[in-house]
Amino acid sequence: MHPPMQNPLLHTPTRALPRHVAVIGAGTIGPDIGYYLASALPGLRLTLVDVAQAPLDKALARCRDYAAKAVARGKMSEAQAGAVTSAIVATQDYAALADCDWVIEAATENLALKRRIFAQLEGIVAAQCLVTSNTSSLPAARIFADMQRPGRATVTHFFAPAWRNPVVEVIDWERCERDVLAWLRWVFAMTGKVPLVTADAVCFMLDRIFDNWCNDAALLLGRATAAEIDSAAGAYVHAGPFFVLNMAHGNPIITETNTLQAEEEGAHYTPAPIFRSVEQWLTVAPGKRVELDAATDAALRERMLGVLFAQSFDILDRAIGAPADLDLGCRLALGFKRGPLELMRELGESQTRRIAERFAADRPGMPLPQRPLAAYQEHLRHVLVDDIAGVKVVTLRRPEALNALHDELTDEVLAVIRRFENDPAVAGFVVTGYGARAFCAGADIGRFPSMLGDAAASAQYSRDCSRLLVHLDAMSKPVVAALNGMALGGGLELAMRCHAIVALRRAYLQLPEITLGIVPGIGAMVVPYRRWPAAAETFHAMLRRAERLGAERAHELGVVDELADDIGQLVQRALARVHALQGRVGRIAEGPVAIPPLAAVEPLAAGGQTLSREVLAILERAVRDAAAAPTLAAALEVGYLAFGASACTAAAREGIQAHREGRQPDFARTG
Ligand code: COA
Repeated sequence: MHPPMQNPLLHTPTRALPRHVAVIGAGTIGPDIGYYLASALPGLRLTLVDVAQAPLDKALARCRDYAAKAVARGKMSEAQAGAVTSAIVATQDYAALADCDWVIEAATENLALKRRIFAQLEGIVAAQCLVTSNTSSLPAARIFADMQRPGRATVTHFFAPAWRNPVVEVIDWERCERDVLAWLRWVFAMTGKVPLVTADAVCFMLDRIFDNWCNDAALLLGRATAAEIDSAAGAYVHAGPFFVLNMAHGNPIITETNTLQAEEEGAHYTPAPIFRSVEQWLTVAPGKRVELDAATDAALRERMLGVLFAQSFDILDRAIGAPADLDLGCRLALGFKRGPLELMRELGESQTRRIAERFAADRPGMPLPQRPLAAYQEHLRHVLVDDIAGVKVVTLRRPEALNALHDELTDEVLAVIRRFENDPAVAGFVVTGYGARAFCAGADIGRFPSMLGDAAASAQYSRDCSRLLVHLDAMSKPVVAALNGMALGGGLELAMRCHAIVALRRAYLQLPEITLGIVPGIGAMVVPYRRWPAAAETFHAMLRRAERLGAERAHELGVVDELADDIGQLVQRALARVHALQGRVGRIAEGPVAIPPLAAVEPLAAGGQTLSREVLAILERAVRDAAAAPTLAAALEVGYLAFGASACTAAAREGIQAHREGRQPDFARTG
């Protein structure tokens, strides 16, 4: 049996995308799951099932409301919205599920009820129909214990709001068939979700964090008010525990899930009694805080960190989840500003140890680290690595930013390459992006504000991000870029340094930097002219007008070596390229290159946006100087310095600010 792929889309699916899915339970989360699936999978039939008509009617109205909002925000056309809402039908009749490919149970959190539903389902659906439960706490082994065919069943745990929250925990329990697990992960990744595999422990991975975080907040109520605790917790989360509990009507859930943990693992998990007597908390909205003296603030913060760290140690020591998934899940699903392991890294070992020990003293029985603290930091944070027949497939995984690059990510890719490039069992590497949408949306714009106005720091950041790219230039083992979607800015610059590029037909290449008032500093003003001189006019237009280059046109120009129709084919073609390139990796031209003149153009982007004349001039000068530079290294240096110069313009400040605010920049004002 093949080990599971870390990147879910590297799995070769043995069944097609679903055509008919049913969601049982028209409460809050069921319709949201249904709406997500119906909008992500055109042509899908989505049946919502409940025992009463009123919740079904409410659920359909809610889906219509979501679709109307999506149209109002320009995220969907009227026609798409109409197709989504008419794809969702409601029924009280289980017989309507007979031809389903997949049934998702999202009924009340009650073991006996769930078991009854699955027993009934087995009498109705076909043998190959998958069945999953959206429980947040009940282990799969208990829910599916009496099923005749438990191999096609598992837990798929969504997070609110399920139509938008990307995270789904997919539970790997002992009787679930490997293929079923792999297919579920594949479908989720194909439809824009981020599936995280967890073990079948009570509350899985993320609810162990969330429930205990909330429970500990409630246990602190003798020392501080809910508003004070939420204010202190605001250092780590976008919304404090009491605010979230109010939103989710979560008090009874914590009582239930922590009782389950207490029964299973010890009295230290016993829920705070106050959850039984309070319905709503008096607290502050996210971003707001009440005044707190510094000592109380620090004590509350450390205590909240203590519970977070204790749960994290336990999750990792018991292999309930993987470290990078833990951080990612806490950020994406639970609204943490940083994951627990990131927080530990920032604090350093002695502070982390002090906080953990203090917490253990306050809360006897709570888990302590079972390994040296440094061991919890030994993992790749932003990339996944798979091995397919001796080729290492490196997947850029930053789903919150369409896989945007920063120096830490590029350094991780470099570390993986260095680790395996001298291994005779490794033929080469494929670099691809997580999900079905983006290879990489460029450099992480969030890192730019701190650099603006500092030419030397900006140029140095470009050099730092280029460590990987310069290494690729000198490699003899092939590295192939597999563009599974858009390749923008720095992402395209990375792809252009790989030794071959394969791309989905629908992928596109673009250098949007000029529209942000900056220039692409890590090779785009240099490398394409040296690698594909015949396409120089196209690169002029991409750089100066942010023109998009579709993958098919890029293939005609020789920039993309091969096209693919779907992700499976893309990966196969990329792997074949790695093998075909053995001993044949080319080098980027070293000496000066001739380029067509950069005839004067209006400062106007292809999308109609007015551009900055000053930044355009920086870009054009850099393109000319880089072409004339005596060596590739000197040409690249021209690019780093030009990025530094652009970062000091008023246009850059305006462009980055406008992007953050979601508006068009006003370069007419900045020049
Ligand atoms: N850096 C950091 N975050 C990025 C990013 C980047 N380069 N590109 C996208 N993201 C983030 C978005 O901010 C958004 O995060 P949010 O959900 O927290 O707001 C998330 O990825 C999804 O992107 P979004 O803009 O909502 O998707 P969309 O479909 O509306 O638009 C793009 C997609 C690619 C057109 C748009 O994201 C974009 O213009 N990105 C910047 C591309 C760019 O200029 N790259 C070069 C940078 S030098």
